[in-house]
Amino acid sequence: MYPTEKTIFSFPFGLLFFHEPQFTGPHIQEAMSMLIFINGNRSVGTINKNIYGHFAEHLGRCIYGGLYVGEDSEIPNQNGMRTDVVNALKELDIPVLRWPGGCFADTYHWQDGIGPKSSRKTLINTTWGGVREDNSFGTHEFMELCRQLGCEAYINGNVGTGTVQEMCDWVEYCNMPGVSPMADLRRQNGQDAPWNVKYWGIGNEMWGGGGNMRADYYSDLCRQYASFLRDYDPSHKIYKIASGACDFNYDWTQRVAELTGALVDALSLHYYTIPGSEWEHKGSATKFSREEYYITMYKALQMKGLIENHTARMRQACPNKNLGLVIDEWGTWLDVEEGTNPHFLYQQNAMRDALVAAVNLNIFGDHCDSVVMANIAQTVNVLQAMILTDGPRMLCTPTYHVFHMFKGHQGARQLETYAETALIGADGADCKVPNLHVSASEDHNGNVLVTVVNLSDHSSVPVEIHWDGLSKFTSITGQVLSGDGAGAAAYNTFDNPHQVEPKALTNITVGTNSFTSLLPACSVAAFTLKA
Ligand code: AHR
Repeated sequence: MYPTEKTIFSFPFGLLFFHEPQFTGPHIQEAMSMLIFINGNRSVGTINKNIYGHFAEHLGRCIYGGLYVGEDSEIPNQNGMRTDVVNALKELDIPVLRWPGGCFADTYHWQDGIGPKSSRKTLINTTWGGVREDNSFGTHEFMELCRQLGCEAYINGNVGTGTVQEMCDWVEYCNMPGVSPMADLRRQNGQDAPWNVKYWGIGNEMWGGGGNMRADYYSDLCRQYASFLRDYDPSHKIYKIASGACDFNYDWTQRVAELTGALVDALSLHYYTIPGSEWEHKGSATKFSREEYYITMYKALQMKGLIENHTARMRQACPNKNLGLVIDEWGTWLDVEEGTNPHFLYQQNAMRDALVAAVNLNIFGDHCDSVVMANIAQTVNVLQAMILTDGPRMLCTPTYHVFHMFKGHQGARQLETYAETALIGADGADCKVPNLHVSASEDHNGNVLVTVVNLSDHSSVPVEIHWDGLSKFTSITGQVLSGDGAGAAAYNTFDNPHQVEPKALTNITVGTNSFTSLLPACSVAAFTLKA
């Protein structure tokens, strides 16, 4: 992926920069500044805010206990939603939330989750741990959660065990403004106005947990579903997302795009960063070697190639339509915390996860001409979560802070960047990664956000950031997230929830169309250039 140990970039104006990487041991600062260039004259487009989307499944303690505790809980809540969690998530400006799965979606029958709670069906969540599902969190509760968060809803329909009629009824229930059996049922359940849910997923992982289907069979089903999912209001057209591939299965993308592309708006893609090579040993969230750290970062960086190759296959299959790529499951998938239910996928979240989030968000932004949405898995208590809870206590993870530091990219104009980098990795190991990873964007007011990741686990890196084609700036400030002494393995605990938090960067020196700063080892920085 990275062919040379030395990196040469030809910057505009014919300049050529060349640096030898210099690594002399733990915590040694490199002597020479690495150069970063922001080209205000080139952009691939606007970063869809939905790239900062989230995913919440009926899995473990994501919904129950994490987001929703019910109105009678002693934990402070508004209409059943945890006040502390909702308040923290509101700070992220979450644009869109995907629900109810994941795999759970393909066993979920939405009518079980409406009407008086006392008469809702209790059943077993056979997908995730065989636990009791009392359906107290259903469509109305999900829409209430979205209202409190101020985000759009993305509902994933059931193709695996559902029917076309069932999903059509769900769309009608949510979106029909006039008189109809489903709209009347919604009103009977206390919601007069339609919610106008825009985003609808047609099944989940249909090649696997969604029914082990072949691409042709799923595509025929998808065409049938897509044909009957109606727009009930011309000013609120629905957006149909076909169940796409996982990882490197480019053939699935190509075939499904060929067969369904005319009837849907986008295809999904799932890619998890899993350090271990065996499913039973994915790797600990907080105890890992240097080699595992670099393997994790190497695998996270593969997202770039995945996006480019899946997009190329979609364009080849469906040249006349700009099908979107919706990466509706991504993030780290690690071993569960000791002593927790293995089916609940509860993992800690360290600085390493923060770096994975940061490079992915940089990559999504730089591919905003094809990536129209992304949903990190999952919002609370599951996989790479923003928030962990323990009874009434909660903490914000390092990943949460990355989403907060990066939120200025939402809806901004992506800017082309060039970074001089050195290839780094564990001694003698094959997996090498560039030491710096950068993206930049400009908002409607001319303010520029530059997000830079220092992937080195032991070297701080002085950076010199130059730009061209941008307005004059009145101030340049920065924030940095790092694990200090604990490095990549630093994390927050319920007893010490503020261990890893962003701090102001005080070492910024401003020049002409440039500034310098020093990035600590294993850190994520966000610079705001104020117009
Ligand atoms: O996010 C956890 C699970 O991972 C989802 O339910 C499924 O779609 C994927 O395999």
